[in-house]
Amino acid sequence: MPTDDLQRLAQPARPDAPQASPLPVVIEQLIGATERLIAARAPQFIAGAAVPWSDPAERRAVQPQSLPVLGHLPQCLVSAPAAICPVVEALLAAAPVLAWRQTYSAAQMSPQFLDQYGWSELVGLAGAVPSRACAVGFLILGPGIEYPPHHHEALELYVPLAGRASWWRARSGWQEVEPGKTVRHEAWQPHAMRTGSEPLLALYLWRSGNLDQHAALMG
Ligand SMILES: [Fe+2]
Repeated sequence: MPTDDLQRLAQPARPDAPQASPLPVVIEQLIGATERLIAARAPQFIAGAAVPWSDPAERRAVQPQSLPVLGHLPQCLVSAPAAICPVVEALLAAAPVLAWRQTYSAAQMSPQFLDQYGWSELVGLAGAVPSRACAVGFLILGPGIEYPPHHHEALELYVPLAGRASWWRARSGWQEVEPGKTVRHEAWQPHAMRTGSEPLLALYLWRSGNLDQHAALMG
């Protein structure tokens, strides 16, 4: 082996050298697409949260977990506006290696709802990108589903990415929201969603000093 190579092997890695992400490249691509979407649509909501978007050393491994509702994702790509397609395409590619979860049990929700509902956290206490200041993830609801009134302490912002759906907020009532618009829920403000003929895919953002919480159904 040449002397130069031996010397290089003997040197310890620089502590500030970039480290390879432990995540599949499709998740890194989704992280980048999500950062760009938030920068374009909702930069103020997580301003100051110092999310390590582009630091591959700040990552958690993801244990893939699937749900039946993922079957609606290809249709979401068809109905997403062109400006939003990059993040939907990235989500479609990464979906098989993400952890998809549900907040509610079979004792709380019907089997029909649970077949048409799921979310995956990208940033937060458990997501691939660690943060204690904000949570960012994706929600999917199949067609013909009502997510009943619920609330939580966290401030919430949704950016619908695909599918026209109706959104209800206490004091505002029902409102149809197009993909690309934003929907804001204040702390403890009751809210609900209802899908029509299309599945709904939405980006969610939470801000709270305590992200270790879940939404609670009302009534
Ligand atoms: Fe919510």
